[in-house]
Amino acid sequence: MAIAYNKRTCDCGTLRAADVGRQVILAGWVNNYRDHGDNLVFIDLRDRGGLTQCRFNVDTDPEATKLARTLRKEDCVAVRGEVIHRGENVNPKLPTGEIEVSIQEVEVLNKSLTPPFEVADHVEANEDLRLKYRFLDLRRGPMQRAIIMRHKVTQAFRTFYYNEGFLDVETPILTKSTPEGARDYLVPSRVWPGKFYALPQSPQLFKQLLMMSGFDRYMQIARCFRDEDLRADRQPDFTQVDLEMAFVDVDNVLDVVERSLAYVWKEAAGIEVPVPFRRMPYDEAMRDYGSDKPDLRYGMKLIDVTEVAGRSEFKVFRDAVERGGVVKAICLTGGGEMTRKETDGLTVEIQGVGAGGLPLCKVVSEGGKTILQTGIAKFFPEGLAGDLIAAMGAKPGDVIFFAAGRFGDVCKYLNWLRITLAERRKLVPAGKWEFLWVVDMPSFEWDEESKQWIFLHHPFTMPRDEDLPRMESDPGSVRAKCYDIVVNGVELGSGSIRIHNREVQSRLFRMLGISDEEAMAKFVHLLTALQYGAPPHGGLALGLDRIAMLLSGTDSIRDVIAFPKTQRAFCPLTECPSEVDAKQLRELGIDLAPEVKAKRKAAENEA
Ligand code: AMO
Repeated sequence: MAIAYNKRTCDCGTLRAADVGRQVILAGWVNNYRDHGDNLVFIDLRDRGGLTQCRFNVDTDPEATKLARTLRKEDCVAVRGEVIHRGENVNPKLPTGEIEVSIQEVEVLNKSLTPPFEVADHVEANEDLRLKYRFLDLRRGPMQRAIIMRHKVTQAFRTFYYNEGFLDVETPILTKSTPEGARDYLVPSRVWPGKFYALPQSPQLFKQLLMMSGFDRYMQIARCFRDEDLRADRQPDFTQVDLEMAFVDVDNVLDVVERSLAYVWKEAAGIEVPVPFRRMPYDEAMRDYGSDKPDLRYGMKLIDVTEVAGRSEFKVFRDAVERGGVVKAICLTGGGEMTRKETDGLTVEIQGVGAGGLPLCKVVSEGGKTILQTGIAKFFPEGLAGDLIAAMGAKPGDVIFFAAGRFGDVCKYLNWLRITLAERRKLVPAGKWEFLWVVDMPSFEWDEESKQWIFLHHPFTMPRDEDLPRMESDPGSVRAKCYDIVVNGVELGSGSIRIHNREVQSRLFRMLGISDEEAMAKFVHLLTALQYGAPPHGGLALGLDRIAMLLSGTDSIRDVIAFPKTQRAFCPLTECPSEVDAKQLRELGIDLAPEVKAKRKAAENEA
């Protein structure tokens, strides 16, 4: 007989002791089955709400019990029955653990093949297999919770920004791209042979144009596309909570964004976050943490010991100082207990990051004195050792790690070391959220490769008013009205006050080696609109995937994206990117290069 599965009474996570006696209809997937001999079969039925134990008893319904014996994991079924109390067999681990449903009728809606991996909280299968069978992977509890968390985050952002008067406006996907530092994904045009659309790296220029169109406060949950090297926190297509506001300065944007984050943390995860957030100039972040996104949940600041190290006998330090470099160090409290094997292991690893080695020494107490021992201790005579210990604020039992060389390299090595030590030695406190605004970044950075100044944020960012006059004469000293929001060492978002003056925008393009003609070709829409009373404006974009990842407690954004791509930008589920028909290519006027055809042929032969 058919069960009215379209009249489900509730989901599988709802029923409690108070429901005992109710007649219910449930539908879902067979999570587990247990055959208890002749009379009794148990099925755990699962849907997005949770699990409910279903009891099939020959005395209640022999037909249903017979059918239950044929059920296997992931079969899709509907059941009808009465909620009964489990008596002594209550399962306190399950929200529905006090009850079970005594089944009077069962209908198999669809059988399942044996799944290639177990649909369980813990899964052994590798990620490629999970992605290939994503529809099964997504049935697992942790994935369901992550996707639900993402929904809550999205909903909370929308509610907050709508309540603050932001208008939700969609911007084009087929467009002319804005430079955001990555390669574009290009889409060939059939109607305009030989021409291409680009998928947006972000809606940057459109949101600025919306300010120039008089919309004042804009928000969009926006898809962005970037062809860049992928990592655990990067996907080729990802989602931003994108914002822009007119008639604002830095403080206005920071205020609304931090309140939105506090709202989302509370609404989606029940976590109270105090506002306002701490602010730190970029220079201070680099100086103290060697990172523009420092994790403030633990200490181990980088300390500049260039002066002391320059007086030591250690050649590596002296050379670095002579060449105008720096020597910096971090002190690991209680690190003296680390074995030689551990520190040797770290040395090999930091060499992988690019460092020449990992100079270190231990701080010990001897004859009532605090002295240095092992490693490079021998290069620090007694007085100098005292100066180093004082500079580091080190105590007996600690270990000091050093890096020497160019400022940027030293930052890179010690930032890696700081994060690695904190993770390995479990120095990261659980449940702590350290929000931080990093502000006043440099506008430009010198690129040795292209022998050209390049932008650090994007080329529409306003330099600080007091720095504008030095834009051409001393670009390296110009700071931008730019801000990053960081939490626990993760960059959540980035934004700036924009240039709303055509002359300043043109000067900035020229600074970046973009001629006036090239600027008009690439940014005609912006440069034109800037001449029609463009208001002062600014904004920011938050990485929605990263926020959902953090609030779900996972360490990969792939876990909070229903259908993500692998690290190699491949989707094992749909097997894309894929080849297209010769006819489609012809229509687009595209002929594959001979070397691409040869590669394809070779791959086909291999397959
Ligand atoms: P930005 O390029 O810094 O700024 O991006 C903003 C935020 O988007 C997230 N993000 C990513 N998330 C997943 N995968 C990626 N490949 C990826 N790239 C970026 C990060 C990042 O902080 N238009 C400017 C914003 C503005 O100025 O208003 C922009 O896109 O969390």
